[in-house]
Amino acid sequence: MLYLSIIATAASAVALGLAVTNRRRSKRLKTQLAEHQASAEQQIMRLRSELDRSIAQLSERSASASNLDLHRKKIDSIEERQAHCQKEVDHLRGEAQNLAMLPTWHPTRVALAEELRPRLVPITDKLGPVLFPNQLAFDELDWMYKLPDRKFPYSLTFEEGMMMHYLVAANELKSGYEIATAFGFSSFFIATAFEKTGGHLISADAYIEEEMEDFIYDHASAQAHVEKLRQLQRDKQYEQLPRGLQFAMEGAAALKIESVVDYEIACSPEGVPDLLNDRQLDFAFIDGGHFGEQPVLDVQSVLPFLHPERFIMMFHDTQCEAVAKAVHFAAQATGTQPFSIHTRNRIVAVTKGIDPKTLHTCREMTVRQAV
Ligand SMILES: C[S@@+](CC[C@H](N)C(=O)[O-])C[C@H]1O[C@@H](n2cnc3c(N)ncnc32)[C@H](O)[C@@H]1O
Repeated sequence: MLYLSIIATAASAVALGLAVTNRRRSKRLKTQLAEHQASAEQQIMRLRSELDRSIAQLSERSASASNLDLHRKKIDSIEERQAHCQKEVDHLRGEAQNLAMLPTWHPTRVALAEELRPRLVPITDKLGPVLFPNQLAFDELDWMYKLPDRKFPYSLTFEEGMMMHYLVAANELKSGYEIATAFGFSSFFIATAFEKTGGHLISADAYIEEEMEDFIYDHASAQAHVEKLRQLQRDKQYEQLPRGLQFAMEGAAALKIESVVDYEIACSPEGVPDLLNDRQLDFAFIDGGHFGEQPVLDVQSVLPFLHPERFIMMFHDTQCEAVAKAVHFAAQATGTQPFSIHTRNRIVAVTKGIDPKTLHTCREMTVRQAV
């Protein structure tokens, strides 16, 4: 009996021991399982976020791929348009060349260019050829000029200068007035013609464009500037006078026409009566302020001095509305018809008693023909 109860006790002790060991093992296993589960969840979360990132990158790439497609299509259509425009440009160039051949070889144009280009080379060499933005020169006579270190003013073109020269010389004109000098470029063409006819030119300017380096200004500033310049003249501060005036005087000296042209500092219209005094003009070039009422006022100031029977009044930049108004004002006031010549800056002659053939010659020799 005792033996049996010892065995039973031992068995229950072993059973108890086993149960304790099992509980511990099961606890350890549970902990391990929980740890595995936690790390597995972490890994799943990391993989998920990596997956999300990859999906986002892929959709970004596919979006930019479709953008790329769009850009490619746009480039294709631009290239198509460019090819079309190039074709049009080539066509227009060809047409322009066809147009340009006849005037290019016009005997009067050729003679004028042969005479005046070499004579004016020392002048043009010191100036800068210039065009307005998006313009191209038809040929070497189609450029305007400016002082190299000033933004404005711009001159007429060489071709336009040749026409002024031709009209004065061919019509034997004797007494001219020009508003305005700028830096003397137009005056060189006109005065070298008066040199031939024994005539004389007065060229005046307020030098306001050079001062402002702009072609828009108010009249009071032009008047004040003229007062300041006159004071500098009285004080003999010649080196402080406008660069344009100095260039004009140096140019006239180089061309040996100092006795043919007088350069005056004056504001139009109020300064004109004193300038012209008792002169009778058969030539006037209106090329001062190009806006507002200024061109009409410039014409008005000249009218009392015009020869009643015989004159040429030239206009430049008649594509400007204010200048166009002045052309019609001059024509009405003198009972004449304006005559347009299709140069770069659309010069127009308002004339009386002048040989019409000389005007037609100008029209025929301009490289930019009307069609
Ligand atoms: C286009 S530029 C003249 C260019 C010149 N005829 C040439 O072709 O070489 C115009 C000039 O007019 C001058 N001007 C503008 N308004 C004026 C005014 N009210 N009185 C005098 N000169 C003026 C400007 O100072 C500028 O020099």
